[in-house]
Amino acid sequence: MKYVLICFFTIACIFTTANLNAQTTIYQNPEASIDERVEDLLRRMTVYEKIGQMTQLNISMINTTGAASDVVLDEEKARYLIRNHHIGSFINGDAVPPETWFTFIYELSRVGLEESRLEIPVIYGIDHIHGASYLAESTIFPHNINLGATFNPIHAYATGWVTAYESVDIGHRWGFAPTIDLGVNPLWARIWETYGEDPHLASEMGRNFIEGYQGNEEIAPYRVAATGKHFVAYSDPRTGWDRTPVQLSMQAIREFHLPPFQAAVDAGIKTMMLNSGEVNGIPVHASYEFVTELLRDEMGFDGVVLTDWADIEKLVDLHRTAENYKEAVYQSVTAGIDVSMTPLDLNFNTALKELVDEGRITEERLDESVRRILRLKFELGLFEYPFPRSDRLYRIGTEENRLKALEAARESIVLLRNENDVLPAKEPNLIVVAGMSANSKRNLNGGWTLTWAGGTEEQYPEDMHTIYTALQKEYPAAEIRLIASELRSSANRDLLDSADLIIYAGGEEPYAEFTGNVTDLTLPSDQLSDVAFLSESETPLVLVLVLGRPRIITPIVEKTDAIIFTGLPGFEGGEAIANIISGRVNPSGRLPISYPMYTGHFSTYNHKPSAISSSALYPFGHGLSYTEFDYSDLQLGSHSVGMNESLTASVTVTNSGEVTGMESVLWYITNHVGRISRPVLELKHFEKIELEPGESTRLEFELVPQKHISYPDRYGNRILEPGRITVRVGDLSKEFMLVE
Ligand code: BGC
Repeated sequence: MKYVLICFFTIACIFTTANLNAQTTIYQNPEASIDERVEDLLRRMTVYEKIGQMTQLNISMINTTGAASDVVLDEEKARYLIRNHHIGSFINGDAVPPETWFTFIYELSRVGLEESRLEIPVIYGIDHIHGASYLAESTIFPHNINLGATFNPIHAYATGWVTAYESVDIGHRWGFAPTIDLGVNPLWARIWETYGEDPHLASEMGRNFIEGYQGNEEIAPYRVAATGKHFVAYSDPRTGWDRTPVQLSMQAIREFHLPPFQAAVDAGIKTMMLNSGEVNGIPVHASYEFVTELLRDEMGFDGVVLTDWADIEKLVDLHRTAENYKEAVYQSVTAGIDVSMTPLDLNFNTALKELVDEGRITEERLDESVRRILRLKFELGLFEYPFPRSDRLYRIGTEENRLKALEAARESIVLLRNENDVLPAKEPNLIVVAGMSANSKRNLNGGWTLTWAGGTEEQYPEDMHTIYTALQKEYPAAEIRLIASELRSSANRDLLDSADLIIYAGGEEPYAEFTGNVTDLTLPSDQLSDVAFLSESETPLVLVLVLGRPRIITPIVEKTDAIIFTGLPGFEGGEAIANIISGRVNPSGRLPISYPMYTGHFSTYNHKPSAISSSALYPFGHGLSYTEFDYSDLQLGSHSVGMNESLTASVTVTNSGEVTGMESVLWYITNHVGRISRPVLELKHFEKIELEPGESTRLEFELVPQKHISYPDRYGNRILEPGRITVRVGDLSKEFMLVE
């Protein structure tokens, strides 16, 4: 009842504010253009007010305890920071119930308006990474690595759409997603946050997430801002450890890492978060070349550029490109950042004010950033609708949304191996389940779920399934036995021998960022020896890999009958895995990364010819089905195509098996000769289809050389050379000549 009352008050308040102000100032008049409003407001602001808009502080600065997990506002702290330091943005929190978030943001918004001389609303940012993951009771989708594995962009769209739908009313208007870094280094602890290793796949998935999130019209009158991160080349550190130096040629950055960010810019993404790390010796948030010349001038990004967490001080403590904090601020602001995620002190404000007073940074430079920040706030409707609302909280965690997450999870599970068609397991009497992920909710979710590095088991919803409980539901007539300890006891040996199937669910426990750094990519040795032990039984053995990156399993592959790569499938993951095991759902996930065979040799599917071979245990795009798809009659519209022409490729795909199935049809090209060496394969188009047994369909791909074959040099000039091109789809290929 309390919230209903607050809600009425809120709505009344929104209208009152809008009406009163409409008569007084241009910037508060919703009828004026955004440009006019921005300029009018900017004119009225002091230098220190402008700096406040460029500052983002953590929730711990304004909550009662100072702990990151406390979502109770300390009004006095907030008043102090907004009145005296004009802070324009706050972030972070914990997965508390919607009502708690509503109250917190409501009060913060009220204090913000009361204490801001010009009534500039605050904006709240948060890491809703796979659904509204910092909100209790919300719908949790699979992580990006899984969305990549679906090869079906509607699931990225749904993730964005549902995230906005479930988090906007509690006042979260700025989401720090999607991650559009490329998952190219399997050691890197953030592989699971990426859509995989391919630029085209990441571009399509990222674009769809943005369209679903920013384009959700059901959240009116509110609007939200997505964040592309982490610009750019963050994901390929030489050591494999998070935020360690990257050495990459500008040509490689342009060809592989830039396209998803360009796709995000083209999709109208409103904000961009910078890579914390150094690229070719210069931290990106201190690089004029990356931030201003590349992202803004060349790529045309006109939204808000945000640093990552405490990155300005890292210029002093970590990268040592700046002698002291003030110099670090000078470097970042000169590079072109708009907002500093400071986030635990006011050092940015003090230092930037001094720099302006000293004349080293001009007020005009501040204006450039503040213009963009104010524009964002106007575009999101914050001036008209600064308050959250509690009358639509029933939209959170609906059955309809849960089914969207379940569908995404189902399509994301990859069947890597299935000897003698051991799966699906039809009508078993006894299934034995073991391994650290067998009865774990947190392992199915990984990091950025409920908390930063993953919640405790108790924090997960009671009705969320683990693999074990999902199997119980899936096979009501069968006995499902969980071995929770003493795997090798004689009683358990007998149990294993008498079972129809053994499912061993291993993988990784949740981690985030540097907490996931490893020195060895091999699957932990206790798991290797468990699998070896289990393989001694005659009972068929299924290895289920619940993990955020491809841990090396080469020594045990042959000991298993089937292997399922589940990635981090989220709240619905247990059910999705059980559905695949039983055959209720035909697996259709495909690897969005190359699964490495060795600990000492990694390469992506689109490696260069001199890399000789990719040495993948399972290649990019690999994934088995319970049916078979035949590819036939690949046709190219012509054998020779001019540089400015296009060519239609078409193929027939037939479900020649016995069950309905989904197939991701992946179109690749090989450009045989290039002055800058060409990848041996390049994914250029994909489409997911569903076919009944015996059904065929004809698919087309319009190949445009300027778009699909040209590639950038290190300056970004596009190169398109005549020569031999092979088009590949399924197991078919055909060549054509690209001519002058
Ligand atoms: C991460 C970002 C995240 C930010 C805010 C950083 O440590 O690198 O991905 O958005 O924290 O929580």
